[in-house]
Amino acid sequence: MKILNVVGARPNFMKIAPLMAEYGRHEKIHAILVHTGQHYDEIMSKLFFSELSIPKPDVNLEVGSGSHAVQTAEIMKRFEPVLIDYKPDVVVVVGDVNSTIACGLVAVKLGARLVHVEAGLRSGDRTMPEEINRILTDSISDLLFCTEQSGVDNLLAEGISARKIHLVGNVMIDTLNKNLQKAGKSNILSVLNLNSNDFAVLTLHRPSNVDDPVIFGRILDALTIIQNDMPVIFPIHPRTRKSLVSCSLGKRLEEMPGFRLTDPLGYLDFLKLMSNAKVVLTDSGGIQEETTILNIPCLTLRENTERPITTEIGTNQIVGTDPTVIIQAYNRAVNGAWRKSVLPPLWDGCAAERIVRILLEEL
Ligand code: UD1
Repeated sequence: MKILNVVGARPNFMKIAPLMAEYGRHEKIHAILVHTGQHYDEIMSKLFFSELSIPKPDVNLEVGSGSHAVQTAEIMKRFEPVLIDYKPDVVVVVGDVNSTIACGLVAVKLGARLVHVEAGLRSGDRTMPEEINRILTDSISDLLFCTEQSGVDNLLAEGISARKIHLVGNVMIDTLNKNLQKAGKSNILSVLNLNSNDFAVLTLHRPSNVDDPVIFGRILDALTIIQNDMPVIFPIHPRTRKSLVSCSLGKRLEEMPGFRLTDPLGYLDFLKLMSNAKVVLTDSGGIQEETTILNIPCLTLRENTERPITTEIGTNQIVGTDPTVIIQAYNRAVNGAWRKSVLPPLWDGCAAERIVRILLEEL
């Protein structure tokens, strides 16, 4: 069975790593890896391949950055000849980035069977570019692998046949479990001169938060208070760095001595940082899941989540962008008044194994 796998942006890499490893255990499978090049920097892409032992991509489409339409169209144009050339039986896409929908659309139009890993997640917010990518990818997929029951329920409610849907757990947690020990050896705490359990970690890159100077400013209001209490480590996404300049907010950071900007970190350093933090503040999707497994309080700086299980039985809480609400939640987190998490069903490190078994059975 020829399986062509697609990655494009940073959050895809930790999802594809366990699948590529699992394919390697089956002689029947010929796995091909295509990188769209949506993310292309050393620190946004290359580092993850070496750290997570992902094989070098067979093809790199090198699309780079652009508006949504340009980026999506460019991926489609460059992916089509690759697909015609390799003629895979199956195309596997992961997550919800522009590369996911662009390659999915090309695949089904050329008659390849499409598999979506991390299907069914819904924030209910259609202004979020990823939400559109999720809905569209799911609607054209032949097999849909879900991380949590809400995903299954959402797909059924959208009229997708139960036959196509499988609850398999979370490939991102496969990667976390596999790398936790290795991450323990990272020296990032000493590099940043931090004591375990005595700092906060922040990530921020959603367009709704960082492209709007008013909202970004409100988040900084909360962080001004937090950084007086403990260091806030902020590995800054390239989009956010640009926004700081265009929103003229860079100057505010100079007046916040406890606020510490770093370049984006590799997987292992970031995992070490997160697992030793007192609290994590984020607008990322994946980090909501990782903090639940690590049992670290997570304040999600958004109005909704597509990963509700992390708020129901995990350590995640949706706090939005109102500084008062953020500070109240922060105080509860640092004072230990935070729920401990329960492991979500099937988040046991064996999701990739289940997915590959089902692929072999069903296709
Ligand atoms: C994308 C995904 C988002 C994911 C995020 C993780 C979509 C719609 N969004 O958003 O779901 O959470 O990746 O990072 O697919 N840039 C660099 N170097 C790179 C890549 C990007 O400097 O290697 C800069 C680009 O110049 C661009 C900006 O970062 O202007 C944003 O990149 P883009 O891929 O458009 O979207 P993200 O915001 O990263």
